[in-house]
Amino acid sequence: MALSLGKPVFCEKPLGVSVEDGKKMVAAAEKSGAVNMIGFNYIRTPASQFVRKLISEGEIGDITWFRGEHTEDFYSDPNIPATWRATGLENGTMGDLAPHMINAALAIMGPIKRLSADVATVHSSRPGGAVDNDDHAQMMCTFKNGAMGHLYFSRIATGRKMGYAYEIHGTKGAIRFDQEDQNAIWLYKSDENPEKQGFKKILTGPHHPDYEPFCQGPGHGTGYQDQIITNIEGAGMKAEQKETTGGHTASEGQVKFLRDLLGQIPEEEQAKYKEVVLSDSITWQYAKENIPVMQELANKAKNKSSNAPF
Ligand SMILES: NC(=O)c1ccc[n+]([C@@H]2O[C@H](COP(=O)([O-])OP(=O)(O)OC[C@H]3O[C@@H](n4cnc5c(N)ncnc54)[C@H](O)[C@@H]3O)[C@@H](O)[C@H]2O)c1
Repeated sequence: MALSLGKPVFCEKPLGVSVEDGKKMVAAAEKSGAVNMIGFNYIRTPASQFVRKLISEGEIGDITWFRGEHTEDFYSDPNIPATWRATGLENGTMGDLAPHMINAALAIMGPIKRLSADVATVHSSRPGGAVDNDDHAQMMCTFKNGAMGHLYFSRIATGRKMGYAYEIHGTKGAIRFDQEDQNAIWLYKSDENPEKQGFKKILTGPHHPDYEPFCQGPGHGTGYQDQIITNIEGAGMKAEQKETTGGHTASEGQVKFLRDLLGQIPEEEQAKYKEVVLSDSITWQYAKENIPVMQELANKAKNKSSNAPF
């Protein structure tokens, strides 16, 4: 309804209570052209934005592996009563926690080509009722860029409070991140002196994306509420079509390159890039940093000095 009136819509995850619902909402959003966003706040922490930047700049080379998890333990004790969380697939782990890490995987790695997945209910009854949805789930996948991956989601992961965590291996290094230590990433570089080689902890600070408005002190840290604000602000920036999301307006050659590229990817994947790529005020920087297919090309161009206009 809101979309059909052209109103901006911010929707918390999950987008719908079924795949059909989700698809309808995507179609409505695309038809309306209104600003819209899902509440994927975790990918917008300064640390995770920095990870995406490192990867798009080729800092750890071509990515070979992504392991991600979103684990919490709020349902690990079988004596915790059944609430609305215990019924309906939309309220199981795949509906509740998995969307965040799947979003991270797609944002960092690009589209998934194939996967095999499984779900399980470990505690099938709780005080007050039966449980008919999943306590945990896992997914083995291959991304379109050739990298392999594994994703795991759980609400019964004893000890984990905010286990949104990932590890990424590349041909020139590796990155680890854990939301329980949300102001840091761990970076490993293959070309470092072996004597001093190891994962280096980098604390985020004003040099990292979206950190400075919240705190001027490096390593002092941002928090959960800050990332919610950054997320909402992201929706607003999208509405203004990228002037504030960085970079110069794309040149004629770059726009042509992007549009040709759009025509070369499968039709079912084109929709999500169209808003940006077909816009009159597209910025090159935004496309390079935010569109997975562009990130792939940027990496390749950097590694192989191709003629792509990066
Ligand atoms: N992005 C984030 O970091 C984040 C964090 C927490 C919650 N959320 C999301 O925010 C929303 C609210 O979460 P909350 O923790 O504040 O929950 P809440 O407990 O305050 O409210 C959730 C309500 O949804 C109702 N509900 C459950 N299944 C439903 C269904 N199929 N149809 C209609 N109503 C249904 C429940 O009865 C409950 O009243 C959820 O979509 C949740 O996934 C996002």
